[in-house]
Amino acid sequence: MSIKIKNVSYTYAEKTPFETTALKNISLEIEEGSFWVILGKTGSGKTTLIQTLNGLIIPKDGEVIVDDIIIKDRKEDIKKVREKIGIVFQYPESQFFLPTVYEEILYAPKNFNKNISKTELINILKLVGLNESFLNRNPFSLSGGEMRKIAIASVLSYDPKYIIFDEPTVGLDYEGRRKIWNIIKNLRKIGKTIIIVTHWIDELISFKPNVLHIHNNEISFIGNFDDFILLGEDELKKKNITFSEKLKLYYCSLKNNIKLEKLFQY
Ligand SMILES: Nc1ncnc2c1ncn2[C@@H]1O[C@H](COP(=O)(O)OP(=O)(O)O)[C@@H](O)[C@H]1O
Ligand SMILES: [Mg+2]
Repeated sequence: MSIKIKNVSYTYAEKTPFETTALKNISLEIEEGSFWVILGKTGSGKTTLIQTLNGLIIPKDGEVIVDDIIIKDRKEDIKKVREKIGIVFQYPESQFFLPTVYEEILYAPKNFNKNISKTELINILKLVGLNESFLNRNPFSLSGGEMRKIAIASVLSYDPKYIIFDEPTVGLDYEGRRKIWNIIKNLRKIGKTIIIVTHWIDELISFKPNVLHIHNNEISFIGNFDDFILLGEDELKKKNITFSEKLKLYYCSLKNNIKLEKLFQY
C-alpha cells in the first residue's frame, strides 16, 4: 500500500490577476511504513502538496492515489482517504474550539463513526507524553507544547496509518521540540508512516528519512537522507538549507565513513 502522487500540478486563482503556481509536475510514491521529510523554502508548495493528499485540494492536472483510492470529487472517497491520512497542520492549536481536551480529542473519531474506549484514549495520551489528568482541562489553558500534543492526540484518535506533520516544531523551544521528536519516534515504533515538513533538518539525522526537496515549486531532489547531505555545503546552501555545525560534522562522518550516529540522537 502507498500514496502515489502522479504528475501533480496546481495553480491558485487560475486565470485571474492573482494566479500563483504552487506545484509543477510533482511525482512521488510514499510507501506504507516509510518516513519522508519535505523540504523547501517558504512558498515552494509544501503545504499545498500536503493538502492534495487528503482531498482538501484536488488538482486538475495529475492524480493522487491513496491505497488504490483515486482522489476525485466523490465525497465518500474523500472521507475514506481522510480516515487513512491524518494531518497535523501548522499551528494546529489555532483550530481548537471545544471546551475540554476530552471533547476536542473525541471530535474527529465521532465524525468517522469510530468509538474509542477510555483505555484507548489514555494510550493515545501516553503516546504524546500526557496523562489522564489533562482530559478535563480547557485546551486554551495549556502551554504551547501541551496544546501541540493535544492536537497530535486528536489526529491519533482515529488511528490514521499515514500521519503528516506540517512544521510541527515551529514556535517551540528546545525542550518542546525534543518532545515532539519523541512523539514521532513513538509513532515510528508502532509502524506509522510519517511525512514531515520541517526546517530543522539537523534534528532528523537520527531518523534518516527519505527526502523530497522542492525548489521553485518543482522537485529539486528526491532520494535518501545521506545522499542529500552528501550533496555538500555549497549545493545545500543553494537549496536554502542551513549547513549547521551539526550537519557539517555529520557530512564529514559520512565522507570519511566514520560511524558517529550516537552523537546525533536528538
Ligand atoms: N489559498 C491560497 N490562495 C492563493 N495562493 C496561495 C494560497 N495558498 C498558497 N498560495 C501560494 O502558493 C504558493 C505555495 O504556497 P504553500 O503551499 O503554502 O508553500 P509552503 O508551504 O512551501 O510555504 C505560494 O506562492 C503561496 O503564496
Ligand atoms: Mg507551509
